[in-house]
Parts: sequence; structure tokens; C-alpha cells
Amino acid sequence: MRTAKLEDIKELKLLIYETIDACYPGAYSYEAIDYFKEYHNTKNILNDILNGYSLILTCGRDMIGTGTLLGSNARRVFVKPAYQNKGLGKRIMHGLEEKAVENGVRIMDLDASFVAYSFYRALGYETQAEDLIPVKNEQNLRYYKMVKKLEDK
Ligand SMILES: CC(C)(COP(=O)(O)OP(=O)(O)OC[C@H]1O[C@@H](n2cnc3c(N)ncnc32)[C@H](O)[C@@H]1OP(=O)(O)O)[C@@H](O)C(=O)NCCC(=O)NCCS
Repeated sequence: MRTAKLEDIKELKLLIYETIDACYPGAYSYEAIDYFKEYHNTKNILNDILNGYSLILTCGRDMIGTGTLLGSNARRVFVKPAYQNKGLGKRIMHGLEEKAVENGVRIMDLDASFVAYSFYRALGYETQAEDLIPVKNEQNLRYYKMVKKLEDK
């Protein structure tokens, strides 16, 4: 696992889009999927790499997972479909939580997609609220605001 560099943005975006395309249909409408993709645009990824702590997991030369900490917020956690359910998402989250503790964060927060909700529950995150974002064609995108109290080192 290593921190992301500016040169990683193009491959990172491909990893995120591939994962969204594989995991979100069925759970989200076409309009919501579009919204997610727009949210993970080059500008936002760049901003998080510059201002946050972005991790990348590699397997050989392949980028297979990522996650970012910005302040107390965990975001952009994705594991390539072929590598899911092997404990990698958990490793990324632990990396972000470790950094958060180092930075003095006591309560970590995140917005969980419908798809990732059970994953975050398994990691000890609690639901604070359920919310809807209006997207195109009068569709809504459902997500969960979740928090976890971090243990001191
Ligand atoms: C959500 C995601 C990051 C999880 O990564 P992963 O590598 O597959 O997860 P892990 O193998 O590390 O799983 C960790 C724990 O969560 C549980 N878990 C993971 N996905 C789960 C699911 N869909 N339902 C129930 N439990 C799940 C695992 O069983 C495991 O529990 P354990 O520690 O008790 O064994 C990954 O599936 C993904 O990228 N999904 C699509 C993108 C996404 O929704 N990202 C989050 C944006 S908010």
C-alpha cells in the first residue's frame, strides 16, 4: 500500500469507474450511477490527493484498490471487482483510520453507498442518518451517513 501521486489520477479514475460499472447497477439507477461518476471526476480526485491522504493498493503493476481520508472523512474507497471479499477494503480502511488517529481525529465519518453499507457496518461504523440526493429524471440516490469512534493508539 502506498500514497497516491498526481501521476496516478488517470488509472485511479479507471479503477473507480470500472468498480462502479460492475457493482452499482441493480442497486442504483442509471442517473445515480452517472452522478457517482461525475462526483469522482479528475478535479475532485486531484483535490483529495493534494489536500488529503489517498492510499493505493497495487498487485504487481495493477492498481487494485484505493481510499482517501480528508479531515475526519473517509471517501472514495474502492476495490477492483476481481479483488473484492479478500480483506483488501478492510486493509484500506484500517490504513485511513490509523492516519486519522495520528492526526488526532476522534470520530471518523463517511457517506456510504447502498452497496458498501454492510461493509462499513462490519467495520464498526454506525448509521447516523439515511439521506437522498436528487439526481436527473426525478430519480434519487440513497446513501447513509455513518460514523465510528476511533480508539486511541
Ligand atoms: C465496499 C468495498 C470497498 C469492500 O471492499 P472488500 O475488499 O470487498 O471488503 P473486505 O473483503 O475487506 O470486507 C471486510 C468485511 O466487510 C464485509 N463485507 C464486505 N462487503 C460486504 C457486503 N457487500 N455485504 C456484507 N458484508 C460485506 C466482509 O464480509 C468482511 O467482514 P469480516 O471482516 O467480518 O470478514 C468493495 O466491495 C467495493 O469497492 N465496492 C464497490 C464500491 C463502493 O461501494 N465503494 C464505497 C463507496 S462509499
